[in-house]
Amino acid sequence: MVRPVFSSVHRDGPLRVLEIGAGVGPVTEELVARLLPGDRLDVVELNPEFCTVLRQRFAGAGVEPAVHQVSILDFAPGIRYHHIVSGLPLANFPSEMVENIYARIFELLEFNGSFVMFEHVMGRELLNTFTTGQARQRIERILQIEEALEPLVLGRTTVPLNMPPARVLVRRHPGAKGDA
Ligand SMILES: C[S@@+](CC[C@H](N)C(=O)[O-])C[C@H]1O[C@@H](n2cnc3c(N)ncnc32)[C@H](O)[C@@H]1O
Repeated sequence: MVRPVFSSVHRDGPLRVLEIGAGVGPVTEELVARLLPGDRLDVVELNPEFCTVLRQRFAGAGVEPAVHQVSILDFAPGIRYHHIVSGLPLANFPSEMVENIYARIFELLEFNGSFVMFEHVMGRELLNTFTTGQARQRIERILQIEEALEPLVLGRTTVPLNMPPARVLVRRHPGAKGDA
């Protein structure tokens, strides 16, 4: 999840990184371990108990994350980020919410930035096969939303040893010049 954030050979200056849906911080830990003094890490996590854990866990870290207990839909920091990393389980959300979350993410991402998220391998396809009625409509709509974002995909990496097997997806901003 964090490899795309640190894969560019050179950086132009301090990085601004946003993590969404950090839980108790497994991905945050990897970010904190690699960020350099002067970089900025904002973490948006809805669950107040997880926010308490995150603040305690990373207090005094070299780059201490600023933990914001808020929905990503209501997060308005007034800056854009070079990299956004999301642990949100989008397949579980209502489709309008998924659409709004993607829109919010692209409002928060630099035009030459990268957006990293995971999906469970076969997750949506399986749900689509085994669900019916309104639940199926929801999944189909999410698949349509993500199909429309397909031209933005810079890379897909399958992590078969994750439980359950997962895929890391990296997308660029729709306003990026060229293929970034
Ligand atoms: C599947 S967990 C991922 C946790 C962690 N990144 C990991 O890899 O273990 C998703 C997290 O997203 C948070 N979350 C759900 N909806 C959110 C929202 N609208 N804004 C911010 N965080 C949200 C949940 O509270 C939960 O901690």
